[in-house]
Amino acid sequence: MTVAGRVAGKKAFISGAAQGLGAAMARKLASEGAKVSLADLNHAGAQAVAAEIDAAFGAGTAFAFPLDVTKEDQWIFALEEADAAMGGVSVLIHNAGISIPGSIEEMPFEDWKRVMEVNVDSVFLGTKHALKYMRQNQPGSIVNISSIAGLIAAHNMPPYNASKAAVWMLSKGIALHCARQGLDIRSNSIHPTFIDTPILDKYREQFGDEGAKAKLGRQVPLGHIGEPDDVANAALYLASDESKFVTGAELKVDGGISAM
Ligand SMILES: NC(=O)c1ccc[n+]([C@@H]2O[C@H](COP(=O)([O-])OP(=O)(O)OC[C@H]3O[C@@H](n4cnc5c(N)ncnc54)[C@H](O)[C@@H]3O)[C@@H](O)[C@H]2O)c1
Repeated sequence: MTVAGRVAGKKAFISGAAQGLGAAMARKLASEGAKVSLADLNHAGAQAVAAEIDAAFGAGTAFAFPLDVTKEDQWIFALEEADAAMGGVSVLIHNAGISIPGSIEEMPFEDWKRVMEVNVDSVFLGTKHALKYMRQNQPGSIVNISSIAGLIAAHNMPPYNASKAAVWMLSKGIALHCARQGLDIRSNSIHPTFIDTPILDKYREQFGDEGAKAKLGRQVPLGHIGEPDDVANAALYLASDESKFVTGAELKVDGGISAM
C-alpha cells in the first residue's frame, strides 16, 4: 500500500522527542507518512507522545526508546532497536539539547562540559552509529538542531553559543563526508530563535507566560516568538526529498533576528 505524504516511507529517529520541538517534529513527520522513533532521557514522556501519534495515525507509526545522547552504548542500542522496529532508519534528527546560562567567570567547568556533551558529543555519536543503518536506506537526511545562538552570540551563554556553533560546522563536515563517500545522505542544520517550548520555562518563572513571550518577542523583527510547528515544518522540508539538492546548509527559523 502506498501511503500519501511528503515523507511517506521515511523512517525517522528523533532525539529529545518527549516534548517541545522533538515531539512537534515527530508529530509532523508522522502526519506526512513517516514512521518515527522517539528517543529521550524521559522515556515515559517519549512513550506518551508515541502513543498519541499511534492513536492519530495508526498503530506501528511511532516507537519510543530510552536514550541519554551522551552515552555511546545507549546510542548503539537505541538505533539497533529503532532499525528493527521501523524496518530501517533513513532520517536522523539530532534535537536533544540543553542550555545552562551563566557568566564565564563564575560558571563551574562541569556546567560547560555538560552542555558541550549533550549538544555536541550527541551529534558525533548519533551520526557515527546511525550511518551504518542509513546506508541501507538511501536517500537519507540528517537534520541537526543548532540555534540562532550558534551564529550570533548572546550574553552569558558561553557553552550554548559554542556548542551550537560546533553543531553548525559539524553538520557541514558530515555533509561532506557523506558526499565524498558517494552516499545519497544529506546533512543540514536548523537555527531557530526563541520558540514556545518548555526550554523557555526559566523565563516564564521570572516574567510569567505572557510577559516572557512579550519580552522575548520584542527582540524578534517579526514581533513575536516562534511556534514549535515553525521548526517542524523546516525539519519536514529537510527530511523530505524536496530538499534532495540541499546539503551542508543552514536554515534559519528566526523571525529575522539574524538579518539585523
Ligand atoms: N525552544 C527554543 O527556543 C530553541 C531555540 C533554538 C534552538 N533550540 C534547540 O532545539 C532543541 C530542542 O529544544 P526544545 O525547546 O524542544 O527543548 P526542551 O527542553 O523542551 O526539550 C528537550 C528534550 O531533550 C531531552 N534531553 C535533554 N537532555 C537529554 C539527553 N542527555 N539525552 C536525551 N534526551 C535529552 C529532554 O528530556 C527533553 O525532552 C534543543 O537542541 C535546543 O537547544 C530551541
